[in-house]
Formats: sequence, C-alpha cells, structure tokens
Amino acid sequence: MTLTELEALLSARHSCRAFRADPVPRADIERIVAAACRVPSWCNAQPWQVTLTSGAETDAFRTALMNEAMTGKPGPDLAFPSGYSGVYQDRRRTCGWALYEAVGVEKGDRAGSAEQMMKNFSLFDAPHCAIISSPAELGGYGAMDCGGFVAAFTLAAQALGVATIPQAAVASYAPFLHRYFDIPEDRLILCAISFGYADTEHPANSFRTERAAVDEIVDWRG
Ligand SMILES: Cc1cc2nc3c(=O)[nH]c(=O)nc-3n(C[C@H](O)[C@H](O)[C@H](O)COP(=O)(O)O)c2cc1C
Repeated sequence: MTLTELEALLSARHSCRAFRADPVPRADIERIVAAACRVPSWCNAQPWQVTLTSGAETDAFRTALMNEAMTGKPGPDLAFPSGYSGVYQDRRRTCGWALYEAVGVEKGDRAGSAEQMMKNFSLFDAPHCAIISSPAELGGYGAMDCGGFVAAFTLAAQALGVATIPQAAVASYAPFLHRYFDIPEDRLILCAISFGYADTEHPANSFRTERAAVDEIVDWRG
C-alpha cells in the first residue's frame, strides 16, 4: 500500500452516527479484529479484550443500555477529562456544533441536544457493538495501547466499507457493563465501538471534522 492509499483510507474514515440494520459478515468482523491486533503495544502485552455483540444480542444490549442511561448513574472506570480548555475546548465545540447543525438542533435547544446525545445509548442503531477493556494493572499504558487498537479497528473496518464510531459515552456506564457482560472488575472498560454499514443519507453522517495543521502540533527542533 502506498502512503497515498493510506491517506485516502485515513481521510475516508469518519465517525458514523446512523447505521443501517444489516449485519456485517462474521468473517469480515474477524478480519477487522485480526488486523487491529497488529498495532504495537508495550512489551507486546496486547491488553485489549473485546466483548462483541451481533444480532439479537446487540438489540438486547441496546435496550438494557438505554434503560440504564435513563435510570442509572454514570461511573466510568477511566476518569473522564476534568476539563477542556483553550484550543481543546474550541475543537470540542466546533465538532459538537457541526453535529447539531447537521441534525437540525439549534443553539440553546437543550432538549434537542439531549435527544441527540441519547442516541449514543441506542448505539446509533448499529447492528454490532464492541466493548474494549484493558487490565487495570496496566494503567494508562494499557489504555494507550488500546487507543491504537481502536484506531486500527476503525481503519480496517473502513477498508472493508464498514462504518464505526468509538464511544466513551457507553463506557460511562461501566458498572452496568461489568454486570451485564460479566467483565471482571480487574479490567478497565475504556470505550465501545459501534459498527455496521452507514446510513449515508442520514443528516448525522453529513458533516466531517477538520484537523490542525502539522505546524500547530509539531514543535520542530532542528
Ligand atoms: C476514545 C473516543 C471516544 C469517543 N466517544 C464518542 C462518544 O461517546 N460519542 C460520539 O458521538 N462520538 C465519540 N467519539 C467520536 C469523536 O467525536 C470523533 O472521533 C471526533 O469528533 C473526530 O471526528 P471523526 O471521527 O469523524 O474524524 C469518540 C472518539 C474517540 C476516539
């Protein structure tokens, strides 16, 4: 693969927030997971474990998660960011407004934005959900390794025409997820990846995010 082809793949991937119902063939899912496992990890520990739902299991999980989001209390295993300031706050706002604008939620429409946020818990209607966890004892480095896995998963999926969205929102209900899937307490639930085929006509999929220029992020020395 040339860098030009890789750049095209990186540019084509985006977070999908409306999926079609048709499932991804098991062989394709296995290929995506196997490809994502090729990322580096400290000591080659490969800390990622994936709890992956399909079919009726996804639908049952979706129903239970929506109920939990309406009645339960969030409590992520990995503390959520304590704040976003400066440029990080700007970028966060920009992508939030792009989504709201795309789906027709106006500034100040709290009910509309809450409704859009709740779609996280219906997994944006995706037919599959992968819950990513890492051993607690590996701490931030396990999470770092899993971040690479998540990125590679989304790219491998994109290469097969499968749309994805990583979701910290799902991981915010970690105690429920531990109970529901019997995920041991010595593992940190980091995020979910909902995936399937994109509903390309849906307005939630009509916008794309920007990236900072190289000179904004590199402190060149020499
Ligand atoms: C670890 C992680 C967690 C995320 N959690 C959510 C989430 O809970 N809900 C959501 O709508 N998007 C979530 N996203 C998607 C980001 O908003 C998205 O990646 C970012 O805005 C860049 O847009 P792009 O993925 O379309 O390039 C998450 C992304 C990552 C990497």
